[in-house]
Amino acid sequence: LGDQDREHWLYAITPDWMIRRLLVPSGLLGRVAGHNMARINAEMNRALVDMLELRGDEHVLEVGFGPGVAVRMLTAALPNGHVAGVDPSVVMLRQATRRNRDAIRAGRVDLRVGTVDSMPWPDGSFDAACSANAVQLWESLEGGAREVHRLLRPSGRLGISVHEYAGASLAGDVPVALKRAGFEDVSMHRKVDKSGPALHFLAHA
Ligand SMILES: C[S@@+](CC[C@H](N)C(=O)[O-])C[C@H]1O[C@@H](n2cnc3c(N)ncnc32)[C@H](O)[C@@H]1O
Repeated sequence: LGDQDREHWLYAITPDWMIRRLLVPSGLLGRVAGHNMARINAEMNRALVDMLELRGDEHVLEVGFGPGVAVRMLTAALPNGHVAGVDPSVVMLRQATRRNRDAIRAGRVDLRVGTVDSMPWPDGSFDAACSANAVQLWESLEGGAREVHRLLRPSGRLGISVHEYAGASLAGDVPVALKRAGFEDVSMHRKVDKSGPALHFLAHA
């Protein structure tokens, strides 16, 4: 079996209740999933943060921050900036809060429970936005992209990274949704890291 087939095979034998717990991590299983994500997705999170080419003073949004690894990387890249994020999982909020406690106390990080569909900040609040391995879980790709577009300043950038096995149609669907939502200059590249092949998208509001 190749990586892709193995993932499909795992999905096929995994009960629905377990998949739901992993999509929006909850309970003990969700806590374990969060610890695994922090380890497995770190390289992809690094590539995503690097793709944003931050200057150090920007306000950046992360959608679906999970255990908060990218939040920590963003904070390190933004000595004079600010990081905000949403994730529907209370278990993930707890793990991300623990991982970023000092920056939260210092008022440099603001993490909330919520989804991409409706986020609690005014129009044009952010210079950049990003999302790692979460876009496949959004209720509506285009609806989520519209909400992120609303929150970005004109020409603000959006980076999206996702494992290829998360959905065979993502390579086509993500650019279409981003363009419909008002994004321009949408580019995509494929990169293989320890966790497998991933797609990385960059777009401008
Ligand atoms: C596979 S995890 C990835 C977490 C983290 N970004 C990483 O790379 O390790 C997906 C995350 O997206 C969150 N999520 C699920 N549905 C979401 C939605 N509609 N809007 C925002 N985040 C969502 C989940 O709670 C989970 O924390």
